[in-house]
Amino acid sequence: MILGIETSCDETAAAVVTAGGEILSSVVASQADLHARFGGVVPEIASRRHLELVAPVIDEALSRARATLDDVELVGVTAGPGLIGALLVGLAAAKAIAWGRGLPLAPVNHLHGHVASLYLQPLDLEPPFRCLLASGGHTLLLDVQGRAWDDVGVLGTTLDDAAGEAFDKGARLLGLGYPGGAEIDRLAREGDPAAYDFPVARVAGLDFSFSGLKTALLYAVRDLAPAELEARRADLAASYQRAIVRALVERLEAVGPERLAIVGGVAANSELRAALPDAVAAPLALCTDNAAMIASAARYTSAVGSPEYLALDAYASAL
Ligand code: KG4
Ligand code: ZN
Repeated sequence: MILGIETSCDETAAAVVTAGGEILSSVVASQADLHARFGGVVPEIASRRHLELVAPVIDEALSRARATLDDVELVGVTAGPGLIGALLVGLAAAKAIAWGRGLPLAPVNHLHGHVASLYLQPLDLEPPFRCLLASGGHTLLLDVQGRAWDDVGVLGTTLDDAAGEAFDKGARLLGLGYPGGAEIDRLAREGDPAAYDFPVARVAGLDFSFSGLKTALLYAVRDLAPAELEARRADLAASYQRAIVRALVERLEAVGPERLAIVGGVAANSELRAALPDAVAAPLALCTDNAAMIASAARYTSAVGSPEYLALDAYASAL
């Protein structure tokens, strides 16, 4: 059994996964409520909350898997990218468990984790495929040749905001809660996606850009009186979501007929999933941050033995 631990942002998560990719348990404690009144994740608050939650969440994951630490053969933990203080809490917990039990430790790249959400049962997707990884922190078009992170190449990335960030900032402009992606998704169902003609940025190559779109929404909202905004909110959400989805889908069409997969928080978006009927989408519960995907990636990450892993450090940025 592999114990996965994830604390890179505002979810404290632990999971138990078998070497064959079966999820025995996956526990996610979201801190979203704690950060909502600030309209985004406050790093220091996140670190402190991880510290309170990490041990009970690991206990809960083991207990739901009907396992104890005696059953664990490998500890996989997110080492980066993410908020450095938040990452250090998970990494320290993983080191302590590995040290106490004489277990190897696999330092997992969070982005590899998102891709590895596709390698869990029953999906168990085999490379090669092209993969859109769209989350709050990243928007990447990946060429996945094998299951190890070294076998993944980057074809395109965002030049400014990530797709999830565009959803979150748009939600904030519309006066919706944080995090905003799921809120826009829900509200968009009641609105007319053709009501506003928001721009889809056309940048060279396979890169993405979302900052112009956000500015267009800002202008549209600024021109409305409060009562008008209330009346047009669903139309704005639907039109804004349509523009983000169109930007993503256009890029994916440009990479050609290869097999395509979508992962990350934005892959939970219902319109994006519907717009890509032939793509393999990560299961909904595995789109947003979780530790099952980290345990999954740990299977394809070189483990570090004792005591070398004690020197491992967290890292904030990705590429
Ligand atoms: O992968 P994730 O949980 O965390 C990062 O690694 O960043 O992604 C979180 C992002 C947030 O920006 C959130 O608004 C977005 O995923 N998200 C969605 C939906 N659910 C979550 N965006 C659009 N539609 C959704 N249904
Ligand atoms: Zn993530």
